[in-house]
Amino acid sequence: IPVDQFDLVIFGGTGDLARRKILPGLFRRFLSGQMPEGARVIGAARSDLDDAGFRDMIGQAIEEFGGEETADKDRLAAFLECIHYVAVDATGEGGWAQLKDLIRENVVRAFYFSVAPSLFGALAERLHGHGIADRNSRLVVEKPFGRDLETAKALNATLAEHFQEDQIYRIDHYLGKETVQNLMAVRFGNILFEPLWNNHYVDHIQITVAETVGVGGRGGYYDKSGAMRDMVQNHLMQLLCLIAMEAPNQFEADAVRDEKLKVIRALQPVDFHHIVRGQYDARGDEPSYREDVENPRSHTECFVALKCQIANMRWSGVPFYLRTGKKLKGRTSEIAVVFKDLGHSIFEGDEKRHRNILAIRLQPNEGIDLQVTIKEPGPGGMRLIDVPLDMTFADALGDDVDEATDAYERLIMDVIRGNQTLFMRGDEVEAAWAWTDPIIEGWQTRNDVPKHYDIGSTGPEDAMMLLHRDGRRWREIKG
Ligand code: BG6
Repeated sequence: IPVDQFDLVIFGGTGDLARRKILPGLFRRFLSGQMPEGARVIGAARSDLDDAGFRDMIGQAIEEFGGEETADKDRLAAFLECIHYVAVDATGEGGWAQLKDLIRENVVRAFYFSVAPSLFGALAERLHGHGIADRNSRLVVEKPFGRDLETAKALNATLAEHFQEDQIYRIDHYLGKETVQNLMAVRFGNILFEPLWNNHYVDHIQITVAETVGVGGRGGYYDKSGAMRDMVQNHLMQLLCLIAMEAPNQFEADAVRDEKLKVIRALQPVDFHHIVRGQYDARGDEPSYREDVENPRSHTECFVALKCQIANMRWSGVPFYLRTGKKLKGRTSEIAVVFKDLGHSIFEGDEKRHRNILAIRLQPNEGIDLQVTIKEPGPGGMRLIDVPLDMTFADALGDDVDEATDAYERLIMDVIRGNQTLFMRGDEVEAAWAWTDPIIEGWQTRNDVPKHYDIGSTGPEDAMMLLHRDGRRWREIKG
């Protein structure tokens, strides 16, 4: 779908996200011909730079973070021509008149707030006060969107003073991942799965987002947040919604978001016996979590595993097990739908309870894996084994697989197209906090201390027990 002519202003244009993700991503869109001729990206920040200084900074950032496909120097020079800079004072009046002069009428105007949420109000007010933003402008904001229900409501209210909901694009970059979108294609584009997608056939669902990275370098932010706020409230919650929601009547922003909201609202409060929190210990030269965040008494979790239930007719009685953590054995993100066993086997001596499992891998090796039961080859009689029907997209689709497109660039292009389907609506974010808040408050009132786990493991022992108690086991995290 073609992209309209646009001016994209990035507040916090000299920041980490802009340099690592947003601008390299836009350059890739430029290379693939998706940035219309004349489109402009305007960095706005406090630093006293001019266009040339900012272009230098972005050129270097793209060389550093852009990856192989951005190595073309001539094309980079052409891209940098589309980039401008205005020094703007977010809380004062400096620079706004220059920004207004630069912005064009009659093109899509988008404003990316890549700054601390405490500045959202001041920026929104000035954008309107100076006549830079109007009813057709779009606003992009990032997580963290609040740190609890109260702060999220306050942020929504601040933005609502100047922008309507249909102008606000709240990014959760997990929704920009190719396979996350594929999840909807698989569920709602095939006849095979949907009839089985309920408590008659599904035993349980597992969502794992395991990371090998630690929190070194961003300890200040992370230790005030923790895995529950950093990952579960947003990314894992979004995956849960997409796997559990009813089919929207069409693939359209509000239809999809209405269905996701219903899932979040149907989530039952989590029993604290059904949650395990963890922190990694030191290993050799590798520092512990507490050393990484420079807080020797930290009770913040960098690992969470929990069991939750959705109280509706489709899912009643089906546990959803979620886990995420840092410095684990491998980098794996997947959703696994584990079907019930048949209950009776016609094959003599076949004691094992065979199960079909549909695993949707987000990363690495994006793809879908369906575990099926077949006869073990050879003369041994009717012995059954479980094998994966593995569809790694890169194998199935060859060169057509789009590995290079990053979630951010996909989402930014959706902003310019005016498509909000893959962005979180205000009520969704609030509902997610309403579910998360009592969990976090419960830890605080009980002065809960996270369990220890080894770097390179699959998390604390208790996380294993969470499933063992129910006669189930986690899927393997591959190292
Ligand atoms: C971010 C979190 O939102 O997502 C990080 O703040 C986390 O802590 C990251 O590492 C994971 O994203 P991805 O795309 O690497 O799985």
